Amino acid sequence: MRTLELAGVQVPVIGQGTWQMGEDRSQRAREVAALRQGIESGMTLIDTAEMYAEGGAEEVVGQAIAGQRDRVFLVSKVYPHNASRRGIPEACERSLRRLGTDYIDLYLLHWRGQYPLEETVEAFERLQEAGKIGRWGVSNFDLDDVHELAAPACATNQVLYNLEQRGIEFDLLPWSQQQRLPTMAYCPIGQGGKMLANDTLRHVAARHQATPAQVALAWILRQDGVIAIPKAVHPEHVQLNAQAASLQLEAGDLEALDQAFHAPERKQRLAMV
Ligand SMILES: NC(=O)c1ccc[n+]([C@@H]2O[C@H](COP(=O)([O-])OP(=O)(O)OC[C@H]3O[C@@H](n4cnc5c(N)ncnc54)[C@H](OP(=O)(O)O)[C@@H]3O)[C@@H](O)[C@H]2O)c1
Repeated sequence: MRTLELAGVQVPVIGQGTWQMGEDRSQRAREVAALRQGIESGMTLIDTAEMYAEGGAEEVVGQAIAGQRDRVFLVSKVYPHNASRRGIPEACERSLRRLGTDYIDLYLLHWRGQYPLEETVEAFERLQEAGKIGRWGVSNFDLDDVHELAAPACATNQVLYNLEQRGIEFDLLPWSQQQRLPTMAYCPIGQGGKMLANDTLRHVAARHQATPAQVALAWILRQDGVIAIPKAVHPEHVQLNAQAASLQLEAGDLEALDQAFHAPERKQRLAMV
């Protein structure tokens, strides 16, 4: 698996998302097995959040990484309403307990909330000093937010990015690339929705004997400094996603995809799901 440097560590360019895991106890074994399969396939970066199933997803991750913590690069996120001087260390302790570990590699502010950014950053720095987190970063920050943050120590910005949601290409993505701030692309395959049925995407996929989801991932990875974090529970999806890292799209493919999914021509407010 191709890697890039994130938070001072080489991480795979395709990781694993966990939103909607941990919601249904009867699915737990499947979800744990999917994450373990993904780790074996090289997708050793796992993205989760205290929000997902209100801690349930972190518990699934904890089960999946038990006995192999050191192989995994763990990303979790704090709710904005917990992102205060007192709230952050408490939220982090709860996440650590559910994850069954004593450190999170990268801890993100899930989106901007009511607390001043300086307060959140200071609390992140305390956690870092205490060895509870490796690095910190943000999520759902638009260009004006990252300017206001003005923190070279921020290790990533995790944002919505896929063929249907290309707004960041206008300003946020080039700026991040120039600053060498890695971007984590969430919902990279459009949540498995109608995007995958697009005719052009299907044609490009057929040309490469690949699937539309694999092309959607390879399309994201054409950009420097971008990591995709698809979520998959089906074993076949997990395997296909890991293999997508070696799919190389050609200029003709990218032109066809540009015709079907237009690049932004002006500033668009950062989209979120
Ligand atoms: N920071 C934020 O605010 C934020 C917001 C949203 C998401 N995220 C993170 O980003 C991750 C990814 O986003 P997401 O889960 O919303 O959407 P996604 O990864 O774009 O799509 C997940 C859906 O696609 C299906 N799928 C996975 N691989 C596939 C394949 N190869 N072919 C066809 N279908 C496939 C999955 O099915 P199965 O599971 O049944 O295999 C699931 O239904 C999340 O899990 C979460 O960790 C962060």
